[in-house]
This record gives sequence, structure tokens and C-alpha cells, in this order.
Amino acid sequence: MGTPIRFALLGCGTVGSGVVELVTRNRKYLETRIGAPLELARVVVRDANKARTASLDPGLLTTDVASVVGAKDVDVVVEVVGGVEPAGHWVEAALRAGQSVVTANKSLLAARGPELLRLAAAHHADLGFEASVGGAVPIVRTLREHLVADWVRSLRGIVNGTCNYILTRMRDEGASFGEVLRAAQDLGYAEAEPSLDVDGHDAAHKLCVLAMLAFGAEVQPADVPTEGIRAIEPVDLRYAARFGYAIKHLAVARETREGALDLRVHPALIPARAPLASVDGVLNGVALQADAAGAQVLVGPGAGAHPTAASVVADLVDAARARRAGVSGLLTQGLDPARRAIAEAGMQEAPWYLRLRVTDRPGVLAQIAGALGHHRVSIEQLVQESRGRRVDDPSTEEEPRIIVFLTHDAIERDVRAAVRAIDAMPFVHGATMALRVEA
Ligand code: NAP
Ligand code: HSE
Repeated sequence: MGTPIRFALLGCGTVGSGVVELVTRNRKYLETRIGAPLELARVVVRDANKARTASLDPGLLTTDVASVVGAKDVDVVVEVVGGVEPAGHWVEAALRAGQSVVTANKSLLAARGPELLRLAAAHHADLGFEASVGGAVPIVRTLREHLVADWVRSLRGIVNGTCNYILTRMRDEGASFGEVLRAAQDLGYAEAEPSLDVDGHDAAHKLCVLAMLAFGAEVQPADVPTEGIRAIEPVDLRYAARFGYAIKHLAVARETREGALDLRVHPALIPARAPLASVDGVLNGVALQADAAGAQVLVGPGAGAHPTAASVVADLVDAARARRAGVSGLLTQGLDPARRAIAEAGMQEAPWYLRLRVTDRPGVLAQIAGALGHHRVSIEQLVQESRGRRVDDPSTEEEPRIIVFLTHDAIERDVRAAVRAIDAMPFVHGATMALRVEA
């Protein structure tokens, strides 16, 4: 065997511990594939005295970042700390020093991905980021390597495991949002700041990474209109099923006829027979359409220690082999994203699902339908809940009833205007839930 390849970890939480376990368990095989011994040099953490799940030589733990970043005896830096800073500063310094970097950090890549790719190229270093999107799903490799001779025209993905896990348990058990979010945190799926997951930002960061690879586009999170799942109730999941749909939190990127990129993150109804509809729990799935390869769907665990570590270690092996072969930098060679036109938000057409709670009183439906019509939104189907009591019967208490509409194709901006008008009506309780139907 050749000269050892030495790697170091920045971070040893959920993902870092998974990496230590996987490398320890499969060391012999990994070394055979690399053709050299693989040595863990150091592990940088915030608190070196904290109890760790990974079985690790305590002598490797340090809080000294300078002992890793730029260190001559570290070939590959694995960044699993998270957040844009200080991780970004460390990744930049490692690349400038010619160290290859493997990262699972989608926040950082969304903020500085194109710049870091250029930096890696300039310093003949590799930058591996398979784990930044889709956990164990090899979507980065697929876009970067497998579809190298192809053009991707659209992709739709369930790319946040926490959101998918929450929606699945709400649907199957009628469980409350807060209860399931806590379970997702306990299982190591959620970000340190879980609002990144449930408010859609994590999926938007991942969409920036996917757009960079699929469309060569330099996209910022601000380019991606983003909605989360907080407002979804179990009743929405039930009504969607009744209409023949599932509700999934989606990241969407597609080229419009004019060649601009339509980018969005939001929950949506998708047909129950669509491949992504059965991607449940912590699974992630990406459905893409490419010119030559046609339709592809990739599915797998989207979060958690081991699935994520599997992707990190795959990149580590690639970077190690490249080091050994003296060809570091090949992984990301030629990836040079550029700004592209972004489609105007709110102008896309789709059918919509609208769910509202109203006081059951004569004339209510006519006023709601009037507002929809006024804003060019045409009703395709309508269901009114039969439970509840009429307010004109003095023997009963007032109880709002649910009305659900499915519309024909309508422009988002028109739907939003109609919803604003409806929500201002005195008999409407709370905010209308408005979700796109993605065919
Ligand atoms: P985590 O459990 O919170 O672990 C973070 C680690 O970073 C901890 O070991 C922490 O040290 C260390 N750290 C934080 N700030 C530091 C600082 N200023 N200096 C030194 N060390 C510091 O996070 P995680 O879930 O493993 O996620 C890590 C990265 O992977 C994030 O970018 C995340 O988005 C990404 N990711 C996570 C998953 C998942 O399923 N969890 C999946 C895909 C990608 P202490 O242990 O001493 O506190
Ligand atoms: N918090 C992220 C998720 C981790 O739930 O998908 C995987 O990137």
C-alpha cells in the first residue's frame, strides 16, 4: 500500500459520528479501493469534553481548527459543522492551502458554492458535496457525472427529510406538527436550527446546489420563493387524498419556454400515482427530466447519521483516490456556474387547492365564488364538510365548516389576490390554505 491518505473532521455531531463509524467499520475495504491506508488525523469540535456517540480515540479530539485547516499532514478536510460561518472561512482556507474538502453543508454551498468551486479549481483541490443534497441519494453524482452529456430540463425533489417525515406522520397518525418535529430532532434528521427545515430554507439551499449542477446556474436563496409546512393540517392531507393526491414539500427547478429558470420551494399536491407520492417518511426523492436520458427518479434516505455518512465517505474515497493518483481537482473540473435569467415569481399557471373555514350562512359560497371569479380563478371541484351546525339554528353553537376547492389552471398572482379578498370576508375564519397542484 502507498503513502497513507490523512483526513480530518471539522465537526463530530450526527454526521461526523456516522463518518467515524463507517470508516472504522469498513476501513479494510475502503483502503483497498483507495490503494492506500486511510488515517483519521484529528477531529475538531466545539467542546472536546462532551460525551460522543462515536467510538473515537479521545486524543484525536481538539478545538484547534488550525491543527487541521492548512495543516501539512492533512490531505482531505471533511467539514460537517454546518452554517455559513465559520465553516465557510475554514473551507476557503483549506482549499487555498490545496487541501481537498468534503462537505455536507448546503447552507454554505447555497451562499458561496460557485465561488468555492472556482477556488477549488484554482488550487487543484477537490470539493465533494454529495451529502449536501438528498442524504444517501446520489443526486450530485448523477447530475455531475452521469448526465454530463445531457441537458436537464426540469427537476422536482422531496429534498428535506424532516418535512417529509413530519407530513407522513401527520397523514398516517394524525400526529401534531410539534410532536413529530421533536421526534425528527431526536432521530438526528433536523438541522440544529429546525426552522431551516420546516420553513423551507434547507430545501431552498439544496435547490441552489441542484440548479448549479443541473442548469449551470449561479442561484442565490433569494432567487427561490420559499414556503414551509407549518400551516399544513392533517385535514389538508385527508382532503388531498380524497381528491386523489398526496401533499409533499417540493423543490422545483425547470426551464421555461423562454429559457428562464422557474425555481420554487413549497408544499404541493401531487397525483397519488406519481413516483414521488410514495416517497414517505425520511426518504428523499428527485424526479428529473433530461433530453437524452429521459425521465429518472432517484429515491433513498434523506437524512440521519448513516445515510449521510455514506455520501460523505463516498466523496472522501473519491478525493483520496484523486490525491493518490495526483489528479486532485478532477471531480469538479469544468463546473463554472453563471447567472441565468430567473422567471418572474407568481406568474406560473397551475391548478390550486384552497381550504378555508367559514361560518355556515346563506350567501357565503356565492361571495367566495364571486371573489375567485373576479380574479379569473375558475372552480373545478368543491367539497363542503357536512359536519358543523348552522348558525341560524339558535339551539346550536356556531362552528366553522371547512370548504375545499380545486381550481382549474390559474396564475399564482391571481390566486393570491383572490385569497386576500376571501380572507378579508367577515365569515372566513383564519387564513385560507392555498397549495399548488403539480401535475
Ligand atoms: P450537529 O449534530 O449539530 O454537529 C455539528 C458538529 O459541529 C458538532 O460536533 C459541534 O461540536 C461542531 N461544531 C459546531 N460549531 C463549531 C465550532 N464553532 N467550532 C468547532 N466545532 C463546531 O450537526 P449535523 O447534524 O452533524 O450536521 C452537520 C452538517 O451536515 C450540517 O451542515 C448539516 O446541514 C449537514 N447535514 C446533516 C444531515 C443530518 O441528517 N443531520 C444530513 C445531511 C447534511 P460539539 O459536538 O462539540 O458541539
Ligand atoms: N435537516 C435535513 C433534512 C438534513 O431533514 O433533510 C439532510 O440534509
